[in-house]
Amino acid sequence: MDGMLAGAKRFHEQPQEVKKELYSRDKKKPVRFYYGASSLTIKPSVWKDSAMFYFKDGKLDPELIPDILSEEISGYNTHIKRISKILSEVLSEALGLRPDYLSSIECMESEVIVCNYYPPCPEPGLTMGASNHTDPSFLTLLQQDNMGGLQALHQNQWVDVTPMQGALIVIIGDFMQLITNDKLRSARHRVFSGEVGPRISIIWFLYPSSAKNLKQYGIIKELQHGNPAIYRETDTAELREEIRVSGPSPSTLSRFKE
Ligand code: OGA
Ligand code: NI
Repeated sequence: MDGMLAGAKRFHEQPQEVKKELYSRDKKKPVRFYYGASSLTIKPSVWKDSAMFYFKDGKLDPELIPDILSEEISGYNTHIKRISKILSEVLSEALGLRPDYLSSIECMESEVIVCNYYPPCPEPGLTMGASNHTDPSFLTLLQQDNMGGLQALHQNQWVDVTPMQGALIVIIGDFMQLITNDKLRSARHRVFSGEVGPRISIIWFLYPSSAKNLKQYGIIKELQHGNPAIYRETDTAELREEIRVSGPSPSTLSRFKE
């Protein structure tokens, strides 16, 4: 985990000319560098640089990863996938399903690692590091350095997520909320920018497999117990398009209500 944070710092502190090679806003590109929000239509604009690594259906050609952090990215994904498997079992059991249920619905197969770099901001009051949002994933595992600034919405109050060395923060994403019919709810979070920095975070997202982009995901039948499905079925492509067009706030999922 320390190595991954250090690798992300090394990458982002390279000269602009080097990072420029990787600059792209094309979501289909498996490795890319960009600044601001994932989409420039999202307001307020955010004070952040990101490097993104997309393991499409679990695979990313190692040749595409810049040498400066290639070992860290590959190693991090391998290890964190094991942790996420255990978490899927725990969550399945918590939902009253058999332990391998969530990992066996064959949809949790693509992973994305985003290395975020929040430079010091001369006027932090005018921008955010990351604006109020939920993640369009099944599950997100977040590692932050010791700078602070991350907040989560808990019982309608923003609370600081205090940095803790060696900790991973588990965030339920929109897809998990959709398939569990609100039994597990995606967590709202945001990041303040700070005058002191940089702040570095490594975000690992678990998404449905790309091959299933056209497959519709809906409520887990075993959880229905005669209750109507709150959301209509959707797929990753549609969910992401929603976010691209209108941003993640106030709630992406609310637009999928039946
Ligand atoms: C995200 C996110 C928070 C952070 O990238 O979705 O919430 O601490 N990042 O960088
Ligand atoms: Ni997030």
